[in-house]
Amino acid sequence: MNRHLISAADLSRDDSLLILDTAEELASIADRPIKKLPTLRGRTVVNLFFEDSTRTRISFEAAAKRLSADVINFSAKGSSVAKGESLKDTALTLEAMGADAVVIRHGASGAAHRLARWVRGTVVNAGDGTHEHPTQALLDAFTIRRRLLGIERARGQGLDGMRVTIVGDVLHSRVARSNVLLLSTLGAHVTLAAPPTLLPLAVGSWPCGVSYDLDSELPKSDAVMMLRVQQERMTAAYFPSVREYSRRYGLDATRMTRLPDHAIVMHPGPMNRGVEIAAEVADSPRSTIVEQVANGVTVRMAVLYLLLGGAELPAVTQ
Ligand code: NCD
Repeated sequence: MNRHLISAADLSRDDSLLILDTAEELASIADRPIKKLPTLRGRTVVNLFFEDSTRTRISFEAAAKRLSADVINFSAKGSSVAKGESLKDTALTLEAMGADAVVIRHGASGAAHRLARWVRGTVVNAGDGTHEHPTQALLDAFTIRRRLLGIERARGQGLDGMRVTIVGDVLHSRVARSNVLLLSTLGAHVTLAAPPTLLPLAVGSWPCGVSYDLDSELPKSDAVMMLRVQQERMTAAYFPSVREYSRRYGLDATRMTRLPDHAIVMHPGPMNRGVEIAAEVADSPRSTIVEQVANGVTVRMAVLYLLLGGAELPAVTQ
């Protein structure tokens, strides 16, 4: 496995399965009264967040702390970045502090890749612009595998033959890009369902199918992943109105009945309830949204553990 995790494309099928299986092992620890492991004691993990984040930042922090690493949270607001300090100077400061791993979220696509050239430690991409968010794809794959195969049958398995439909604002979504790459590496068939204006031009070269008609995709889906309409990244009108968007690409209770009985509904958060997903869908038993957040901690523990080469995990009794 690479020293850094910048793109889901960095992961082979074996790497991905190793991360998911390690996360399964760590998940059994999360059920114990004492959740902490000594594996990364003495290591320093820096969370470097230039963009707002709730779930991802807290989740990386919880993951590092459960492995006993020292955690430094650095947010661009209130730091010298607000005074115009460059990413490179910030990186050199972190380097001087002896960071073993830097978890970076940045508004510019390619920022994590750049950082990896400037620091000696491991770099984990926690979202760079509209480019990639590989740990989100890993936690999504983990969630799909657990829900559709069951916890007992999950270990060692890929997602072979499973059908995943990713819906909505693909153009601005680093989550979609990382998921297409990772889920296809794991053997799933991915289809993007979106209006043509919200699909990237290069989508023809991605390992997935494309559809403009959500209703015809739903009956064939084992998992449907709704994406947030990312209004803050939109520089033009990509659809006539929010109402029109919801009517064609939003998942409401009526549309959800088109899914097979076993199918799950996912969303990476934050949700626009009533736009891409109706409240009754988000809160329904098919929804994995809360599980995705919980799984995020275990999957990020597995990533940090494997990339930083932590001490061996204690034997876990099931
Ligand atoms: C996503 C992100 O920031 O890329 N959220 C997340 O990490 N859970 C998706 C989004 O912002 O819509």
